Amino acid sequence: MKVLVTGGAGYIGSAVVHQLVAGGDEVVVFDNLTQGHRAAVHPDAVLIEGDLSERGAIDAALSEHRPEGILHFASHTLVGESMEFPFRHLGNNVRCGLNLLESAVDHGVRRFILSSTANLFGQPDRDLIDEETTISPGSPYGESKFILERILHWMDDRFGMRYAALRYFNACGALSPDLGEDHDPETHLIPLVLQVALGQREHVTIFGDDYDTPDGTCIRDYVHVADLADAHIRALHALDGGSRTYNLGSGTGFSVREVIETCRAVTGHAIPATVGPRRPGDPAVLVASSERIRGELGWSPRYDDLRTIVESAWAWHQSHPRGYGDRAPHAS
Ligand code: UFG
Repeated sequence: MKVLVTGGAGYIGSAVVHQLVAGGDEVVVFDNLTQGHRAAVHPDAVLIEGDLSERGAIDAALSEHRPEGILHFASHTLVGESMEFPFRHLGNNVRCGLNLLESAVDHGVRRFILSSTANLFGQPDRDLIDEETTISPGSPYGESKFILERILHWMDDRFGMRYAALRYFNACGALSPDLGEDHDPETHLIPLVLQVALGQREHVTIFGDDYDTPDGTCIRDYVHVADLADAHIRALHALDGGSRTYNLGSGTGFSVREVIETCRAVTGHAIPATVGPRRPGDPAVLVASSERIRGELGWSPRYDDLRTIVESAWAWHQSHPRGYGDRAPHAS
């Protein structure tokens, strides 16, 4: 299949592109490279440096390449930043998504995969979160993704757009030692902890140890980027059977302390940790039930073991201590 991937130079998008190309799909990446990296784009994919805020640029890409499907990763994704600058996420994510969808409809594209998020569930009313869990976005970022899910519902209803909304829990790990996570600023737990092991930070701060969990720190569902990629490809090829929404996690939760311990074991570094205040908006426990995608698409995570996940991330960080090398050095 020929597909256009927005954000295909970013962390999750680039991993999906690599898997699509490996499976024989033809890929056009559309990315403005503000968060993505040229070096992360698969050499066999076409790269269009473009911005989704410019409808003309999307029209031109779709007219020239005529993809059968679109996978939409490009987005502002930081929960905390969205609380501070809500218009950046609500405005930008929704406007850009609408531009893309309107252009897709005009160009006859009827398959669409949306990168959605567990942040849709805010402070969930249950620990194992399935697709029936009440939606109450925890931030403007989560709200922007929910708005896009709702817009897709109407695109399907009005134009027969078949879509899959994939709600990731905590994406992590590296597809290979040459393709991994490189954010600026970095805010995610595993890369931050590994930066301490690399000597780039003095310590990691645990955001609160007084949660109602066994060791007092927050529990999250860490899902490997290779498993996310596999889910996208399965969802894309299942769309002819109708639109669908899936929660994507490994189904196992690990606490912040367990993550740090595992990073210590994998790296052999002491990784000093200090306890700080809670980070506003963090729920105590976020673990996915991915029963629906397991049952419907036969997906199951291959990397549900935290040690294997951290080993893959560590291999990437060790071989690329400055990420893709196209940014200023990390602050320590
Ligand atoms: N944490 C720390 N110290 C840090 C960084 C994080 O203790 O320096 C903790 C957080 O409080 C949280 C856990 O580690 O309990 C994971 O935090 P991340 O920032 O790595 O990830 P989040 O769970 O906040 O968010 C991620 C994505 C979001 C997505 C969400 C869905 O970044 O885009 O998962 O679950 F919405």
